[in-house]
Parts: sequence; C-alpha cells; structure tokens
Amino acid sequence: MILLGLNIDHAATLRQARYRSAGATHGGNIEPDPVEIAFRCEKAGADGITVHLREDRRHMQEDDVLRLGAHPGTRLNLEMACTPAMTEFALKLKPHSVCLVPESREEITTEGGLDVVKHRAKVARVTDAMNAAGIKTSLFIDPEPEQIALSAELHAPWIELHTGAYANAYYGPGRAAEFARLVAGAKQAHALGLVVNAGHGINYVNVAEVRTIPHLHELNIGHSVISLALFTGIDEAVRTMKALMNG
Ligand code: PXP
Repeated sequence: MILLGLNIDHAATLRQARYRSAGATHGGNIEPDPVEIAFRCEKAGADGITVHLREDRRHMQEDDVLRLGAHPGTRLNLEMACTPAMTEFALKLKPHSVCLVPESREEITTEGGLDVVKHRAKVARVTDAMNAAGIKTSLFIDPEPEQIALSAELHAPWIELHTGAYANAYYGPGRAAEFARLVAGAKQAHALGLVVNAGHGINYVNVAEVRTIPHLHELNIGHSVISLALFTGIDEAVRTMKALMNG
C-alpha cells in the first residue's frame, strides 16, 4: 500500500489570509486551525502529516508545528530548509522525518528540487545531525541520476522525487518523458537502497499514473486535497485520494 502524507500547509494559508496579525494561531474566532484539520485527515486515513515551516512563516507557524509534534499519534514530516536555525528546531521537535527542501522567499511554493550536488556540505551536515538523532531525512530532489546517487552517498535514508515538472507537463507533449524520468529515478533510488517517496502537484487526475511509479512508499499531497475539501469536506477529500492512490 502506498502511504498518504497529507500536506496541510494550505489550511494555514487560509487562516493567515485573515488572521496573520491576530497574535495567536487558534482559539476564539481564529479559523481554520490547521492542527484540527490534521487530526481530521488522520481519522479519514492519512498516514502522516506534512508541514513546511518556511522562513517567512507564510502559512504554518511554529506554534502549529509544536502542537502537532506534541501529539503522540501524529507521524509528522517536517519540510525545512537546510539552515542552522531549522536544524536546531527539528532536533528539539524530533519529528518522525524531515524533508530537506530548497527555499527562497520569492517562490509561491517549492519550485525545484534541492540541488544536493551544489549544496553537498550543507545537506551532509543536516543529514548527519538527523541520522545521529534518529530522525529520518528525506531529500526532495529532481529525478536526476547524480542527485539520486549523491543522496545515497550522503546516507539519507529517503528521497522524495519532485513530481512538479511531470504535473506541469501533464496536458502537454512532455508528459511521457517526465514520467519516464520519474520511473527511472525510482528504480535507481531503490537499487541504491533508498526509500522512494514522491510529491508536488499530484492531484486526483494524475495520481492514476503517479501511483504506477515503481517502489513508491509514500506520496506527499497537499493543494489538491485541500482544494477538493472546499467542495466535499476534508474527510471525503482524504478518503477519495487514498482510494485512488491504491487502486
Ligand atoms: N512535497 C514537497 C517537498 C513540497 O514542498 C510540497 C509543496 O509544499 C508538496 C510535496 C505538496 O505539493 P502540493 O501542495 O502541490 O500537493
């Protein structure tokens, strides 16, 4: 069975649109509470909760992440930049896993994979620290042979293949080539002993093909599920995705 990691960042985006300057993250008239959404997602079948604590705090806030981290039943995956501040935060939080992502203030969401080759020393420092603390590190990378090979060399136990380029090409002529890159990447990673996750831009349509990428352990999905939830409620949106992922 492929696991569903539910990215709830955009529940926090909605809250921040109205209550950014409220001085609190929940309680009173502040809504929605992304932590409550996370619990609902888990009840509906999400296997884990993913959050990205961005440097500009545009959606999730530290307090949200700490509340999720303190909840014993939640398998938390913290997406983070490779910075000393985030490393310190993660070592205190002790989530089940961290996913190292590139981060720049200008981007709307994470736009490209982490360039492990370019940032080798930084990635190695964070991965070593997490390995020593018993926290699994996942590297969010493009399906490029040298990125995958180096991820294994740096002893990251997991990778998350960036499916964004594939998702963007889905209705165009580049789709088959992008899908082939993902398949090849998953095979290479598996052969090197890496656990293979995937994420970004996965939706209720393309998941039918994404789920056929070999060796998939978990898909991290956010925007499409939170969007469908506006029509169906979060429970139904999670259940539907989980069913489509597993055929
Ligand atoms: N995986 C990673 C590493 C991401 O940065 C994101 C976006 O925050 C996702 C998965 C989820 O992408 P989407 O919201 O497009 O489903």
